[in-house]
Amino acid sequence: MPYYVKLGKVPPKRHITFYKDDGVSLYREELFSTKGFSSIYSNKYHIHLPTEVEKIDEIKVFNDEMWDNAPIMYYHFMTDKKQTAGNFLSARQLFMKNANCRISTAHVTEDCDFFYKNSHMSELVFVHHGNGKLLSEYGVLEFKQWDYLIIPKGTIYQMKFDSYDKVKLFIVESTTPFDIPRHFRNEYGQLTEEAPYYERDFRPPSHLDPKDEAGEFRIVMNLAGRHFEYKVPHHPFDVVGWDGFLYPYAFNIADYAPKVGKLHLPPPVHLTFTTGNFVVCSFCPRLFDFHPEAVPAPYFHSNVDSDEVLYYVDGDFMSRSGIVEGSVTLHPMGIPHGPQPGRTEASIGKKETYEYAVMVDTFTPLYVTTNVKETLVAGYENSWITK
Ligand SMILES: [Fe+2]
Repeated sequence: MPYYVKLGKVPPKRHITFYKDDGVSLYREELFSTKGFSSIYSNKYHIHLPTEVEKIDEIKVFNDEMWDNAPIMYYHFMTDKKQTAGNFLSARQLFMKNANCRISTAHVTEDCDFFYKNSHMSELVFVHHGNGKLLSEYGVLEFKQWDYLIIPKGTIYQMKFDSYDKVKLFIVESTTPFDIPRHFRNEYGQLTEEAPYYERDFRPPSHLDPKDEAGEFRIVMNLAGRHFEYKVPHHPFDVVGWDGFLYPYAFNIADYAPKVGKLHLPPPVHLTFTTGNFVVCSFCPRLFDFHPEAVPAPYFHSNVDSDEVLYYVDGDFMSRSGIVEGSVTLHPMGIPHGPQPGRTEASIGKKETYEYAVMVDTFTPLYVTTNVKETLVAGYENSWITK
Protein backbone atom coordinates (compact mmCIF):
# COMPACT_ATOMS: atom_id res chain seq x y z
CA MET A 1 0.00 0.00 0.00
CA PRO A 2 2.83 2.56 -0.13
CA TYR A 3 1.60 4.10 -3.37
CA TYR A 4 -0.79 3.76 -6.33
CA VAL A 5 -0.02 0.91 -8.74
CA LYS A 6 -1.64 -0.14 -12.03
CA LEU A 7 -0.85 -3.42 -13.78
CA GLY A 8 -2.31 -4.92 -16.96
CA LYS A 9 -5.30 -3.49 -18.78
CA VAL A 10 -8.06 -1.55 -17.06
CA PRO A 11 -10.91 0.53 -18.51
CA PRO A 12 -10.51 4.34 -18.60
CA LYS A 13 -12.94 4.79 -15.70
CA ARG A 14 -14.08 2.53 -12.87
CA HIS A 15 -17.55 0.96 -12.93
CA ILE A 16 -18.06 1.19 -16.70
CA THR A 17 -18.36 -1.49 -19.36
CA PHE A 18 -15.13 -3.32 -20.11
CA TYR A 19 -15.50 -5.75 -23.02
CA LYS A 20 -13.29 -8.68 -23.91
CA ASP A 21 -11.82 -8.93 -27.42
CA ASP A 22 -15.06 -10.44 -28.75
CA GLY A 23 -16.76 -7.09 -28.11
CA VAL A 24 -19.74 -8.81 -26.47
CA SER A 25 -18.74 -10.42 -23.17
CA LEU A 26 -17.64 -8.40 -20.19
CA TYR A 27 -14.66 -8.61 -17.93
CA ARG A 28 -15.88 -8.79 -14.31
CA GLU A 29 -14.91 -5.93 -12.05
CA GLU A 30 -14.24 -6.74 -8.38
CA LEU A 31 -13.73 -3.93 -5.89
CA PHE A 32 -11.44 -5.23 -3.15
CA SER A 33 -11.83 -2.82 -0.24
CA THR A 34 -10.83 -2.49 3.41
CA LYS A 35 -12.48 -0.96 6.48
CA GLY A 36 -15.82 -1.14 4.74
CA PHE A 37 -15.42 1.11 1.72
CA SER A 38 -13.45 3.76 3.61
CA SER A 39 -9.78 2.77 3.41
CA ILE A 40 -7.38 1.58 0.71
CA TYR A 41 -8.74 -0.59 -2.11
CA SER A 42 -8.00 -1.98 -5.54
CA ASN A 43 -10.23 -2.74 -8.54
CA LYS A 44 -9.53 -6.06 -10.23
CA TYR A 45 -10.82 -7.18 -13.65
CA HIS A 46 -11.48 -10.91 -13.97
CA ILE A 47 -12.02 -13.08 -17.03
CA HIS A 48 -14.54 -15.15 -15.03
CA LEU A 49 -16.96 -14.47 -12.21
CA PRO A 50 -14.95 -14.31 -8.97
CA THR A 51 -17.91 -15.83 -7.13
CA GLU A 52 -18.03 -19.19 -8.96
CA VAL A 53 -17.67 -22.14 -6.60
CA GLU A 54 -18.70 -25.76 -7.08
CA LYS A 55 -18.08 -27.41 -3.71
CA ILE A 56 -17.26 -26.29 -0.17
CA ASP A 57 -15.82 -28.57 2.52
CA GLU A 58 -14.49 -27.69 5.94
CA ILE A 59 -10.99 -29.05 6.47
CA LYS A 60 -8.49 -29.21 9.32
CA VAL A 61 -5.28 -27.32 8.54
CA PHE A 62 -3.59 -26.47 11.82
CA ASN A 63 -3.47 -28.08 15.21
CA ASP A 64 -2.96 -25.20 17.63
CA GLU A 65 -2.09 -27.19 20.71
CA MET A 66 -1.70 -24.66 23.51
CA TRP A 67 0.61 -25.06 26.51
CA ASP A 68 -2.00 -25.08 29.28
CA ASN A 69 -1.12 -23.04 32.35
CA ALA A 70 2.27 -22.10 30.91
CA PRO A 71 4.27 -20.01 33.36
CA ILE A 72 4.53 -16.30 32.64
CA MET A 73 8.29 -15.89 32.50
CA TYR A 74 11.24 -15.09 30.24
CA TYR A 75 11.30 -17.51 27.31
CA HIS A 76 14.03 -18.47 24.89
CA PHE A 77 13.18 -21.17 22.36
CA MET A 78 14.74 -22.40 19.15
CA THR A 79 12.34 -22.54 16.22
CA ASP A 80 14.73 -24.60 14.07
CA LYS A 81 14.17 -27.51 16.45
CA LYS A 82 10.55 -27.78 15.30
CA GLN A 83 10.42 -28.77 11.65
CA THR A 84 7.68 -30.59 9.79
CA ALA A 85 7.99 -31.36 6.08
CA GLY A 86 5.35 -29.63 4.00
CA ASN A 87 4.37 -26.79 1.70
CA PHE A 88 4.16 -23.08 2.54
CA LEU A 89 0.95 -23.71 4.49
CA SER A 90 1.18 -27.24 5.92
CA ALA A 91 4.75 -26.71 7.19
CA ARG A 92 3.67 -23.89 9.51
CA GLN A 93 4.29 -24.37 13.21
CA LEU A 94 2.50 -21.98 15.54
CA PHE A 95 4.46 -20.77 18.58
CA MET A 96 2.40 -17.90 20.01
CA LYS A 97 -0.98 -16.33 19.50
CA ASN A 98 -3.62 -14.04 20.92
CA ALA A 99 -6.97 -12.85 19.59
CA ASN A 100 -5.38 -10.65 16.93
CA CYS A 101 -1.92 -12.07 16.26
CA ARG A 102 -0.39 -15.43 15.36
CA ILE A 103 3.37 -16.07 15.16
CA SER A 104 4.67 -19.15 13.33
CA THR A 105 7.68 -20.48 11.48
CA ALA A 106 7.81 -22.86 8.52
CA HIS A 107 10.61 -24.95 7.05
CA VAL A 108 9.11 -25.42 3.59
CA THR A 109 10.20 -28.62 1.85
CA GLU A 110 7.78 -29.06 -1.03
CA ASP A 111 5.66 -27.35 -3.67
CA CYS A 112 1.87 -27.13 -3.46
CA ASP A 113 -0.95 -27.58 -5.93
CA PHE A 114 -3.57 -25.47 -4.15
CA PHE A 115 -4.13 -21.78 -3.56
CA TYR A 116 -4.41 -20.07 -0.17
CA LYS A 117 -6.66 -17.23 0.85
CA ASN A 118 -6.40 -15.98 4.40
CA SER A 119 -9.56 -13.91 4.77
CA HIS A 120 -9.20 -13.81 8.54
CA MET A 121 -5.77 -12.22 8.92
CA SER A 122 -3.25 -10.23 6.92
CA GLU A 123 0.13 -11.88 6.73
CA LEU A 124 3.71 -10.73 7.11
CA VAL A 125 6.00 -13.46 5.79
CA PHE A 126 9.67 -12.87 6.53
CA VAL A 127 11.76 -14.97 4.15
CA HIS A 128 14.64 -16.00 6.37
CA HIS A 129 16.02 -18.41 3.78
CA GLY A 130 14.80 -18.98 0.24
CA ASN A 131 14.11 -17.32 -3.09
CA GLY A 132 11.13 -17.63 -5.36
CA LYS A 133 7.89 -16.13 -6.51
CA LEU A 134 4.76 -15.01 -4.71
CA LEU A 135 2.00 -15.69 -7.22
CA SER A 136 -1.35 -13.98 -6.70
CA GLU A 137 -4.27 -12.39 -8.50
CA TYR A 138 -2.13 -9.24 -8.50
CA GLY A 139 0.62 -10.86 -10.55
CA VAL A 140 4.13 -12.17 -10.06
CA LEU A 141 6.25 -10.88 -7.19
CA GLU A 142 9.79 -12.21 -7.05
CA PHE A 143 11.16 -12.50 -3.53
CA LYS A 144 14.57 -13.16 -2.03
CA GLN A 145 16.20 -13.88 1.30
CA TRP A 146 15.33 -11.40 4.07
CA ASP A 147 12.32 -9.96 2.29
CA TYR A 148 9.28 -9.04 4.29
CA LEU A 149 6.27 -10.04 2.18
CA ILE A 150 3.11 -8.16 3.15
CA ILE A 151 0.07 -10.12 1.98
CA PRO A 152 -3.23 -8.29 2.58
CA LYS A 153 -6.11 -10.20 4.10
CA GLY A 154 -8.13 -11.93 1.37
CA THR A 155 -5.35 -12.21 -1.23
CA ILE A 156 -5.41 -15.52 -3.13
CA TYR A 157 -1.78 -16.61 -3.40
CA GLN A 158 0.81 -19.33 -3.71
CA MET A 159 4.50 -19.37 -2.78
CA LYS A 160 6.82 -21.10 -5.24
CA PHE A 161 10.48 -21.51 -4.29
CA ASP A 162 13.41 -21.85 -6.70
CA SER A 163 14.73 -24.62 -4.46
CA TYR A 164 13.29 -26.37 -1.42
CA ASP A 165 16.68 -26.82 0.22
CA LYS A 166 16.80 -24.93 3.56
CA VAL A 167 13.73 -22.71 3.12
CA LYS A 168 12.72 -20.97 6.36
CA LEU A 169 9.88 -18.51 6.93
CA PHE A 170 8.90 -16.43 9.97
CA ILE A 171 5.20 -15.62 9.71
CA VAL A 172 3.20 -13.03 11.63
CA GLU A 173 -0.56 -12.80 11.06
CA SER A 174 -2.74 -9.88 12.07
CA THR A 175 -6.49 -9.29 12.12
CA THR A 176 -5.76 -5.64 11.25
CA PRO A 177 -3.64 -4.48 8.28
CA PHE A 178 0.13 -4.07 8.29
CA ASP A 179 0.55 -0.34 7.76
CA ILE A 180 3.38 2.08 7.11
CA PRO A 181 3.43 4.25 10.29
CA ARG A 182 1.57 7.48 9.70
CA HIS A 183 4.40 9.65 11.04
CA PHE A 184 6.65 8.35 8.24
CA ARG A 185 4.28 9.89 5.65
CA ASN A 186 3.48 13.48 4.76
CA GLU A 187 -0.02 14.91 4.30
CA TYR A 188 -0.13 13.42 0.78
CA GLY A 189 0.91 9.94 1.91
CA GLN A 190 4.43 10.16 0.46
CA LEU A 191 7.23 8.86 2.67
CA THR A 192 9.06 11.75 4.33
CA GLU A 193 12.79 12.47 4.28
CA GLU A 194 12.93 11.24 7.89
CA ALA A 195 11.41 7.83 7.15
CA PRO A 196 13.77 4.82 7.36
CA TYR A 197 12.73 3.69 3.86
CA TYR A 198 11.65 5.13 0.56
CA GLU A 199 9.05 4.21 -2.06
CA ARG A 200 11.80 2.68 -4.22
CA ASP A 201 12.45 0.12 -1.47
CA PHE A 202 8.94 -1.37 -1.82
CA ARG A 203 8.37 -3.90 -4.59
CA PRO A 204 4.84 -4.58 -5.82
CA PRO A 205 4.11 -7.44 -8.26
CA SER A 206 6.13 -6.81 -11.41
CA HIS A 207 3.76 -8.19 -14.04
CA LEU A 208 0.54 -10.10 -14.58
CA ASP A 209 0.29 -13.59 -16.01
CA PRO A 210 -3.50 -14.02 -16.42
CA LYS A 211 -4.76 -17.58 -16.67
CA ASP A 212 -7.87 -18.42 -18.68
CA GLU A 213 -8.03 -22.08 -17.68
CA ALA A 214 -11.05 -24.26 -16.91
CA GLY A 215 -10.81 -27.25 -14.58
CA GLU A 216 -10.98 -27.97 -10.89
CA PHE A 217 -8.93 -25.67 -8.72
CA ARG A 218 -8.69 -25.84 -4.93
CA ILE A 219 -8.56 -22.73 -2.79
CA VAL A 220 -7.91 -23.26 0.92
CA MET A 221 -9.77 -20.46 2.69
CA ASN A 222 -9.23 -19.19 6.20
CA LEU A 223 -12.66 -17.77 7.02
CA ALA A 224 -13.27 -16.48 10.54
CA GLY A 225 -10.42 -18.70 11.78
CA ARG A 226 -11.91 -21.89 10.29
CA HIS A 227 -10.56 -23.52 7.14
CA PHE A 228 -12.54 -24.52 4.09
CA GLU A 229 -11.64 -25.98 0.73
CA TYR A 230 -13.44 -24.19 -2.10
CA LYS A 231 -13.39 -26.04 -5.42
CA VAL A 232 -13.71 -23.51 -8.26
CA PRO A 233 -14.10 -24.19 -12.00
CA HIS A 234 -11.49 -21.76 -13.29
CA HIS A 235 -7.93 -20.74 -12.44
CA PRO A 236 -8.07 -18.14 -9.64
CA PHE A 237 -5.39 -15.97 -11.27
CA ASP A 238 -7.66 -14.76 -14.10
CA VAL A 239 -7.13 -11.03 -13.52
CA VAL A 240 -6.20 -9.11 -16.70
CA GLY A 241 -5.67 -5.79 -14.92
CA TRP A 242 -5.99 -4.02 -11.59
CA ASP A 243 -5.19 -0.71 -9.99
CA GLY A 244 -5.22 0.79 -6.53
CA PHE A 245 -3.36 0.93 -3.25
CA LEU A 246 -4.12 -2.58 -1.96
CA TYR A 247 -1.76 -5.35 -3.13
CA PRO A 248 0.98 -7.63 -1.82
CA TYR A 249 4.47 -6.17 -1.75
CA ALA A 250 8.02 -6.91 -0.65
CA PHE A 251 10.47 -4.93 1.44
CA ASN A 252 13.92 -6.25 2.30
CA ILE A 253 15.13 -5.78 5.87
CA ALA A 254 18.61 -4.86 4.54
CA ASP A 255 17.01 -1.80 2.90
CA TYR A 256 15.91 -0.46 6.28
CA ALA A 257 18.00 2.61 7.17
CA PRO A 258 18.51 2.55 10.95
CA LYS A 259 18.80 5.71 13.01
CA VAL A 260 21.59 6.23 15.53
CA GLY A 261 21.94 8.79 18.30
CA LYS A 262 24.41 10.35 20.69
CA LEU A 263 22.83 8.26 23.45
CA HIS A 264 20.87 5.01 23.31
CA LEU A 265 17.64 5.38 21.36
CA PRO A 266 14.58 3.29 22.31
CA PRO A 267 13.08 0.51 20.14
CA PRO A 268 10.59 2.79 18.29
CA VAL A 269 13.56 3.99 16.18
CA HIS A 270 13.47 0.51 14.62
CA LEU A 271 9.75 0.73 13.79
CA THR A 272 8.87 -0.80 10.42
CA PHE A 273 5.17 -1.71 10.34
CA THR A 274 2.22 -0.93 12.60
CA THR A 275 -1.04 -2.82 13.06
CA GLY A 276 -4.05 -2.10 15.27
CA ASN A 277 -2.71 -4.42 17.96
CA PHE A 278 1.07 -4.72 17.64
CA VAL A 279 4.13 -3.27 15.90
CA VAL A 280 6.96 -4.85 13.90
CA CYS A 281 10.50 -3.47 14.23
CA SER A 282 13.71 -4.26 12.31
CA PHE A 283 17.09 -4.46 14.06
CA CYS A 284 19.81 -3.94 11.46
CA PRO A 285 23.58 -3.36 11.38
CA ARG A 286 24.34 0.15 12.63
CA LEU A 287 26.84 2.38 14.36
CA PHE A 288 26.49 2.64 18.11
CA ASP A 289 25.79 5.79 20.16
CA PHE A 290 28.60 8.34 19.82
CA HIS A 291 28.73 10.03 23.24
CA PRO A 292 32.25 9.26 24.58
CA GLU A 293 30.77 7.64 27.69
CA ALA A 294 27.78 6.03 26.00
CA VAL A 295 26.62 2.55 27.01
CA PRO A 296 25.64 0.88 23.73
CA ALA A 297 23.84 -2.07 25.35
CA PRO A 298 20.20 -1.31 26.14
CA TYR A 299 19.27 -0.29 29.66
CA PHE A 300 17.06 -2.60 31.70
CA HIS A 301 13.50 -1.74 30.94
CA SER A 302 9.91 -2.55 31.82
CA ASN A 303 7.39 -1.98 29.11
CA VAL A 304 4.22 -2.81 30.98
CA ASP A 305 2.01 -2.53 27.91
CA SER A 306 3.83 -4.87 25.50
CA ASP A 307 4.83 -8.49 25.19
CA GLU A 308 8.16 -8.39 23.35
CA VAL A 309 9.06 -11.07 20.81
CA LEU A 310 12.47 -11.05 19.12
CA TYR A 311 13.22 -13.37 16.21
CA TYR A 312 16.95 -13.59 15.56
CA VAL A 313 17.95 -13.62 11.91
CA ASP A 314 21.69 -13.19 11.58
CA GLY A 315 24.81 -11.80 13.24
CA ASP A 316 25.94 -11.38 16.81
CA PHE A 317 23.23 -10.24 19.17
CA MET A 318 25.27 -8.32 21.69
CA SER A 319 22.92 -8.13 24.69
CA ARG A 320 22.29 -11.87 25.10
CA SER A 321 24.33 -15.06 25.21
CA GLY A 322 23.26 -18.40 23.81
CA ILE A 323 21.27 -16.86 20.99
CA VAL A 324 21.45 -18.62 17.63
CA GLU A 325 19.84 -18.07 14.26
CA GLY A 326 16.14 -18.93 14.54
CA SER A 327 16.07 -18.26 18.29
CA VAL A 328 13.06 -16.44 19.72
CA THR A 329 12.95 -14.63 23.02
CA LEU A 330 9.61 -13.71 24.56
CA HIS A 331 9.65 -11.19 27.39
CA PRO A 332 6.10 -10.79 28.72
CA MET A 333 4.75 -7.43 29.77
CA GLY A 334 5.02 -6.61 33.45
CA ILE A 335 8.50 -7.99 34.14
CA PRO A 336 11.75 -6.10 33.44
CA HIS A 337 14.33 -7.30 30.97
CA GLY A 338 17.72 -6.22 29.68
CA PRO A 339 21.29 -7.31 28.97
CA GLN A 340 22.56 -10.49 30.53
CA PRO A 341 25.38 -10.30 33.10
CA GLY A 342 28.60 -8.92 31.63
CA ARG A 343 26.99 -7.74 28.41
CA THR A 344 26.60 -4.10 29.49
CA GLU A 345 30.28 -3.81 30.42
CA ALA A 346 31.35 -5.63 27.26
CA SER A 347 29.44 -3.18 25.07
CA ILE A 348 31.26 -0.06 26.38
CA GLY A 349 33.56 1.37 23.75
CA LYS A 350 32.09 -0.72 20.92
CA LYS A 351 31.51 1.29 17.77
CA GLU A 352 29.08 -0.78 15.75
CA THR A 353 26.96 -3.92 15.66
CA TYR A 354 26.19 -6.46 13.01
CA GLU A 355 22.83 -7.97 13.78
CA TYR A 356 19.55 -8.66 12.07
CA ALA A 357 16.43 -9.38 14.10
CA VAL A 358 12.68 -8.88 13.77
CA MET A 359 10.78 -7.69 16.82
CA VAL A 360 7.04 -8.01 17.41
CA ASP A 361 5.62 -6.01 20.33
CA THR A 362 2.01 -6.93 21.07
CA PHE A 363 -0.33 -4.77 23.13
CA THR A 364 -2.18 -7.74 24.64
CA PRO A 365 -0.61 -10.89 26.12
CA LEU A 366 0.51 -13.75 23.91
CA TYR A 367 -0.24 -17.37 24.73
CA VAL A 368 2.34 -20.05 23.94
CA THR A 369 1.84 -23.41 22.27
CA THR A 370 3.37 -26.78 23.05
CA ASN A 371 5.89 -26.00 20.29
CA VAL A 372 7.44 -23.48 22.69
CA LYS A 373 7.55 -26.11 25.44
CA GLU A 374 9.25 -28.58 23.08
CA THR A 375 11.94 -26.15 21.89
CA LEU A 376 12.58 -24.27 25.13
CA VAL A 377 16.10 -23.41 26.28
CA ALA A 378 15.93 -24.57 29.87
CA GLY A 379 17.08 -22.13 32.50
CA TYR A 380 16.86 -18.97 30.40
CA GLU A 381 14.58 -17.44 33.02
CA ASN A 382 17.42 -17.73 35.56
CA SER A 383 20.17 -16.46 33.29
CA TRP A 384 20.45 -13.01 34.90
CA ILE A 385 21.66 -14.44 38.22
CA THR A 386 25.07 -12.94 39.01
CA LYS A 387 26.35 -15.24 41.75
FE1 LIG B 1 12.93 -4.79 25.26
